[in-house]
Amino acid sequence: MGQIELTGDVYYPSPETIANANLKDRSEFDKRAEQDYEGFWADFANELDWFQKWDKVIDDSEKPFYKWFTGGRTNISYNCLDRHVKTYRRNKLALIWEGEDGEHRTMSYFRLHNDVCRFANLLKSMAVKKGDRVTIYMGRTPEIIIAMLACARIGAVHSVVYGGFSVESLTERIEDSQSRVLIVADGAYQRGKIVKLKDIADEALQRAGTVEHVIVVKRTGQDVYMEPGRDMWYHELNKLPIANQPCVVEETSSEDPLFILYTSGTTGKPKAILHTHGGYMVGTYVTTKYYLDVQDADRIWCTADPGWITGHSYIVYGPLLNGATIFMYEGAPYHPYPNRWWQMIEKYGINILYTAPTAIRGFMRFGDSWANRHDLSSLRILGSVGEPINPEAWKWYHRVIGRERCPVIDTWWQTETGMHMISPFPTMPLKPGSGSLPFPGVKMEVVDEQGNPVKANEEGYLIIKTPWPAMVRTIFNDPQRMVDQYWTKYPGAYMTGDSAKIDEDGYIWVIGRVDDVIKVSGYRLGTAEIESAFVSHHAVAEAAAIGVPHEIKGNAIYAYIILKQNLQPSDELIEELRKHIAHEVGPIAKPEHIEFVDKLPKTRSGKIMRRVLKAQAMGEDPGNISTLEE
Ligand code: WTA
Repeated sequence: MGQIELTGDVYYPSPETIANANLKDRSEFDKRAEQDYEGFWADFANELDWFQKWDKVIDDSEKPFYKWFTGGRTNISYNCLDRHVKTYRRNKLALIWEGEDGEHRTMSYFRLHNDVCRFANLLKSMAVKKGDRVTIYMGRTPEIIIAMLACARIGAVHSVVYGGFSVESLTERIEDSQSRVLIVADGAYQRGKIVKLKDIADEALQRAGTVEHVIVVKRTGQDVYMEPGRDMWYHELNKLPIANQPCVVEETSSEDPLFILYTSGTTGKPKAILHTHGGYMVGTYVTTKYYLDVQDADRIWCTADPGWITGHSYIVYGPLLNGATIFMYEGAPYHPYPNRWWQMIEKYGINILYTAPTAIRGFMRFGDSWANRHDLSSLRILGSVGEPINPEAWKWYHRVIGRERCPVIDTWWQTETGMHMISPFPTMPLKPGSGSLPFPGVKMEVVDEQGNPVKANEEGYLIIKTPWPAMVRTIFNDPQRMVDQYWTKYPGAYMTGDSAKIDEDGYIWVIGRVDDVIKVSGYRLGTAEIESAFVSHHAVAEAAAIGVPHEIKGNAIYAYIILKQNLQPSDELIEELRKHIAHEVGPIAKPEHIEFVDKLPKTRSGKIMRRVLKAQAMGEDPGNISTLEE
């Protein structure tokens, strides 16, 4: 691949990158996938441990509810831990963790396995069984990983709620998942302050009624309310003899659910995307190995939060499946200074850094000198995820952080895809701003409204035409919604919700969402959630939220508000509404702009015309408004 001449701004891999990469030449994979797609995936699956091998690699008898590795029995937590504990890796570091306050901890595979077994025993003592949902609401500390792996070990289904979400978001997710057990931290450190997670959880638990047991992990140590009979400290439970028993792993079938993760969609409430033990395991294992190029001695730092899919797949599961060492940092990037990240990369010798364009743009504004002070020579691979990376940020990342030695691996994927779907391998020629090609064997197209492929460099809808192992299995509690949302518009194909172009070299350039999802600093939010949070405020009659371009965040939220009769707009009210959104949804959803209006542009059927609002917010011509009601 390195020899082919491509058009445009192209960066070719260095001989050093090629010499070190796990995959020297992607055409090996392309050929194998072309000849025998199922065999191609079966080979990867065979690198992992199975209690029983599968009968069938892909079962499409009930598509779009595809199944993978049916008849097989495995357990992802077993593959992350027990498999390594049997080898020299038992003494290897599984995890290095640094708190925002400078505290640090390390855990060997042996220790992590032990802690996971103990935690799993505690869950069992609360009668958590295979298939039961457990909600986890914590900051970035080792216990979040322990809790996730403990659920997986006994076949329980974890539902991690991002610690940056707040009361209403947490309430909805607990209720929809019907969790009986909540695992929460007392608090988390962020920018030198304490986020009072337990207080937020207490408020949510007053609204949501299913939770019987709350396990509280002590992190910040401030006083928290403990409800007798419901709330228990983890460190006290962990001393009980029951924690100390052997913990037999649940031999889950490939299609047993591993987790649900709520994500925003086109309309209404967030939906619970469901992933399973078998296919998700194989998909995250392979992409971590070949795209992020993780090798045995590597320390990988994925800066995402475990509460999002990136954290699930590339902090926790992918790296542990590969037996690598995870690095996790609790706090804010610029705390106390904008060299915090670079200092930690130097201190811990991080080899792979996987982060989001918004973070890179954030660092860029502080200039090169903060990074230049540090020895970043341990870095080998730089990854990007979450939103399109603008070429300027790509080049800065490549030059200032990667010192022009490290390939930038721009990975496109989604909560629903579970694993990377478009990405360069490190040995491929790179074009800043393009994620390059789909995973070998996966056919993706850019099509028009009718489903016809558009011409090179023309914009259209991005669709996926081949099943892949970590694909979304269903929406928990609402399978029909999965069919309607993803598989109906283009029969036989998965609709991503993104627009894209494909250039003359076949490289894909993802442009952004075409639905009501807004990516703010790489975080996925839905206009519907923000709007319903606005309307829950006593002053608001109606609300419309849109995304507008923002230099650092990628998109920022712009909200149009109609106040209830006789109420007057004021700066105080704007501040109050912003606080209200932070309290209900989370600080990430705070709108950048709030504008009070008397009317919202709607179609005759009453749908808000966001396109018109967007044009107005950006001072542009709204174009064709013939469907506007008035
Ligand atoms: C966007 C995050 C361009 C895209 C893993 C997608 C990207 C949505 C990229 C999914 C990328 C993610 N280039 N856009 N490399 N990665 N996106 O579910 O719009 O939080 O549909 O998963 O993020 O967001 P989600």
